[in-house]
Amino acid sequence: MRLPEGMQIQRIDLDGPLRDVYDAYHAATAHRPGPAFSFPHYSWLLRRGGSGDRVEAWAVMDGDRVAGACGLQFPLLDNTHLTEVFEGFTHPDFRRRGVARALFDHARRRTLAEGRRLVVGETETGGIGAAFIAAMGGEAVLSEARRTLDLRKADWATLEGMLPDVPGYYLEGFTGPAPEELLTDLATLIGGMNDAPRGADIEGLFVDAGRMREFEESVVPSGQESYVMIARRAADDAPAGYTRIYLDAARDDGWARQADTVVLAEHRGHRLGLLLKLANLLWVHESEPHLERVITWNATSNRHMLAINEAMGFELLDEWFTWQVAA
Ligand SMILES: CC(C)(COP(=O)(O)OP(=O)(O)OC[C@H]1O[C@@H](n2cnc3c(N)ncnc32)[C@H](O)[C@@H]1OP(=O)(O)O)[C@@H](O)C(=O)NCCC(=O)NCCS
Repeated sequence: MRLPEGMQIQRIDLDGPLRDVYDAYHAATAHRPGPAFSFPHYSWLLRRGGSGDRVEAWAVMDGDRVAGACGLQFPLLDNTHLTEVFEGFTHPDFRRRGVARALFDHARRRTLAEGRRLVVGETETGGIGAAFIAAMGGEAVLSEARRTLDLRKADWATLEGMLPDVPGYYLEGFTGPAPEELLTDLATLIGGMNDAPRGADIEGLFVDAGRMREFEESVVPSGQESYVMIARRAADDAPAGYTRIYLDAARDDGWARQADTVVLAEHRGHRLGLLLKLANLLWVHESEPHLERVITWNATSNRHMLAINEAMGFELLDEWFTWQVAA
């Protein structure tokens, strides 16, 4: 199917201002519950090419108006057989005219041109995004859910009382980019995320200290700050677990975003997951009293993580899925 007269696909200049793309993206996704990307965060997402990925972004232009756009991420250190489509959208004024289909077909062509065979991405279940992906022949390979906790209504005394006593382990926290001496341990810890559920044709991440350094150095340019908590075994200081919460550096939205939580296999079963998540949340709440809500994102099959979230009082916000389609 061809694009309507006057519209064309164009590569987005990622060194350019990106404001028009962001405004169109914002209009297309304003209906979504949960936190929205700030302009600095969205720009960083489109541009980020470090930390083991190369990125390009494409728009459908109608004259000088952005009708739709998407980012394409080409992993270089793992998953070299796939392309990830991210933050795809069509502006509400241009819907049902084949804009997203044209971008999707282009993503497939770019994937094949890069010698890759699979296109993957994420969208809400049950909405227009899901209908679109089904029409593109996409297959759901992982179901996920977002949950939120209202920090204004949380019972902090109860949460503090839930902190488990875990003998033989201690916690250590940091904000800002991780110091050099932590990078190897952090890489080991993030590697533990590869035990979390993912689609069968999607490989785990390859993480080493170099990738970790790029990742840590990208937090501030993304317009965010983060609070990280690490658990170590007291006997030998071995890294055992990790959790991270992000917030917007501008502190003008009330959202905290829970990112990865991991306990390495040999340290599981001691309630370190609950300890890490709770201790980090209590620290963030005390340090950043303006925060109103925290959002977390998990595979629905990840029952251990879900049990922790539910014990902490997180409530279901919406459901998403990871999809894939052959290029
Ligand atoms: C999903 C979205 C990108 C679709 O954009 P679009 O340009 O309107 O989509 P297209 O015109 O290319 O539609 C292609 C096919 O998708 C399906 N589709 C698109 N919108 C649909 C809708 N509202 N209801 C049912 N099916 C729909 C149809 O099969 C359509 O083919 P048809 O028009 O010949 O029937 C757009 O609605 C959007 O930006 N939504 C918010 C962000 C989002 O959900 N992104 C998805 C990321 S994967």
